[in-house]
Amino acid sequence: MTSTQSEIDQSYSVSNEFFRLWLDEGMHYTSASYLTGDETLEQAQLNKCRILYDYAEMTPDKLVLDIGCGWGSNLEYHVQRGTKRAHGITLSTAQVEWINGRNLPGVTALLMDYHDYEPAEKYDALQSIEMIDHLCSPAQAREGKAVELYRAYFKKCHAWVKPGSHFGFQAILRDKVPRTRKDLEDLAFTADVIFPGGLNPRLEELIMAIRPYWECVEMRTQRVSYGKTTAEWLRRMRLHEKEIRGRWGDQVFDDYDRYLSTCVRAFDNYWSSDVQMKLAWCPL
Ligand SMILES: C[S@@+](CC[C@H](N)C(=O)[O-])C[C@H]1O[C@@H](n2cnc3c(N)ncnc32)[C@H](O)[C@@H]1O
Repeated sequence: MTSTQSEIDQSYSVSNEFFRLWLDEGMHYTSASYLTGDETLEQAQLNKCRILYDYAEMTPDKLVLDIGCGWGSNLEYHVQRGTKRAHGITLSTAQVEWINGRNLPGVTALLMDYHDYEPAEKYDALQSIEMIDHLCSPAQAREGKAVELYRAYFKKCHAWVKPGSHFGFQAILRDKVPRTRKDLEDLAFTADVIFPGGLNPRLEELIMAIRPYWECVEMRTQRVSYGKTTAEWLRRMRLHEKEIRGRWGDQVFDDYDRYLSTCVRAFDNYWSSDVQMKLAWCPL
C-alpha cells in the first residue's frame, strides 16, 4: 500500500486544535466549490457537499459510506440533511477520535485502511473526497502502477454497494510540470514532508481506472476553487502565526506556510487541479 498509518498520522496529527485555527468550522480539509466566487469558505464547503450529495443521488433513507472521511465534515452534512446512517472510514487516529468524541446521531467512524474494509452490509451510496491521492506513491507511479492501484480501489468500492448505486467522488489532480528548480523543490517538499507516500493522480489515469466498474456520467473540474480555498487557509493560518509558533514551534508554522503558499501557486499555474465526478455503478 502507499500512505501508511504513520505517514497518515504525520499528515493529519499535528493537533486537531492546530487545524481548527485555519480550516473552516466544519474542518473540511479538501477543496471547497466556489460557484459565484463571492461565497465565504464555509458556504463554498457546503456547495461542495451538496454537489457530491447530488452526484451520489442521496436521499435521507440511504446508507452512505464516506471513504477517507477526515474529521467528519461531510458526514455531518449528511445528518444535517436528515440522513439516518452515515458511515466513515479514515486512516488517521486523531480524526477518528475527533468524530467519535462528537457523538453525532447517525454518524459512525472507524479507524480503518480501505484495503482491509469489509462492510457488514451493502451501501446505497458512496462518497470519497480527496482520499485517492494517498493510494499511489511517486515510486509506484514511476513503475507504471498508478492505474492498477486506482483500479483496485474502484473495484473494491464497486463490491461494497448495491447494484444501481452512485458515487460522488472528488480528487486533487496533477497537471503541468513546473519549470523552475525552486517550484519543483517546493512541490517535492509538500509531497515528502506534508503528505508522505502520496501523489495526485492525473485525470486520464482516473478515467482509465474507473472502468469497468463505474461509468463517469458527469464531471466538473475546479482548479480555481482550490486556489481560492488554499489562499483562504493560508490567510487564516497567518492570522494565528504567533499562537502557532508558540504552541507547536517555528518548524510547524514555516512548513505549513511553505506548503500552503506552494498550493496557491500550483493552482494558479495549472500544476494542479481538482475534479468532482458522478460515477454510476456498472454491471460486470
Ligand atoms: C485530504 S484528507 C480528506 C478528508 C475529508 N474527505 C475531507 O474532505 O476533509 C484524506 C483522508 O483520506 C484518509 N485516507 C488516506 N488513506 C486511506 C486509506 N488507505 N484508508 C482509509 N482512509 C484513508 C485520511 O485518513 C484522510 O481522512
